[in-house]
Amino acid sequence: MEVNRVQAVASFSKNVDTIPSEFIRSEEEQPAITTLHGVVLEVPVIDLSHSDEEKLVKLIAEAAQNWGLFQVVNHGIPDEAISKLIEVGKEFFELPKEEKEVIAKTPESGIEGYGTSLQKEIDGKRGWVDHLFHKIWPPSVIDHKYWPKNPPSYREANEEYAKKVREVSDNLLKYLSLGVGLEGHEMKAAAGGDDLIYLMKINYYPPCPRPDLALGVVAHTDMSTITILVPNEVQGLQVFRDGYWYDVKYIPNALIIHIGDQIEILSNGKYKAVLHRTTVIKEKTRMSWPVFLEPPPEHEVGPISKLVNEENPSKYKTKKYKDYVYCKLNKLPQ
Ligand code: OGA
Ligand code: NI
Repeated sequence: MEVNRVQAVASFSKNVDTIPSEFIRSEEEQPAITTLHGVVLEVPVIDLSHSDEEKLVKLIAEAAQNWGLFQVVNHGIPDEAISKLIEVGKEFFELPKEEKEVIAKTPESGIEGYGTSLQKEIDGKRGWVDHLFHKIWPPSVIDHKYWPKNPPSYREANEEYAKKVREVSDNLLKYLSLGVGLEGHEMKAAAGGDDLIYLMKINYYPPCPRPDLALGVVAHTDMSTITILVPNEVQGLQVFRDGYWYDVKYIPNALIIHIGDQIEILSNGKYKAVLHRTTVIKEKTRMSWPVFLEPPPEHEVGPISKLVNEENPSKYKTKKYKDYVYCKLNKLPQ
């Protein structure tokens, strides 16, 4: 199946100041009109090396409750592991088209592979972004068919990052669990425990001649439990807060943590999934590396029973994660 990649569209559009109409958003979405300019939102920054665990739990719970997005520093992932991840991902996207198409998504491959645009947009619009998805943990679900063979160090860099990102995410899930009054292991257990799937995505946003009119990824909340994201140096993440879209200022080497739908559900609404989107720029390629922590497809997710009582009745249905994904991607009610 021949798909017109955004990277190819971008190279045709390089010396003009127009973009194909399918990339032009409606006025309700155009970043130039809908962004609150001149204000950079400073989301909570949490130092994970904090020795006072109680304090850390409180900070993380507050951020997950009031923002749904926060950044962590001193997270224990060495700068080198992050810069290697970035380097090999960038090298893959800079390969000739034919080499990337070798691992393109097919109707059978599900979410994994090189591709363009995930959700079916009702108005037929497209985001200014290509992506690559592949699972990085646990070993039983990894299919190396979807991991780039080139550059040759791709695998090692991703294996190393996967190891480190699991350490951070285990801690975050523990703090989020303690933050709603559960025991440390309960949140992760309810999300699938050791079967929790770590899905790597690389977003590749080429330079765009009309960043005022296009969006990268459109407004959404992540379906995951949490998402742990590394960006390159180009800003572009926006969050919706108090009725406006704001640019998020990020800090070099910090990880950006998104609260996704499944933690909102498990916590029975105490934690809030964050509505976010991305913008693009004229001069540079933006890239990002979110890792989505997802329940296994057959795993049932619903509000954790200890968090449901007469004052807090269950706010969400309990359903298999795969059914949740199906409804969300097809824009059906949950
Ligand atoms: C996503 C996403 C944000 C970014 O891929 O779900 O929200 O900064 N990406 O690229
Ligand atoms: Ni997202």
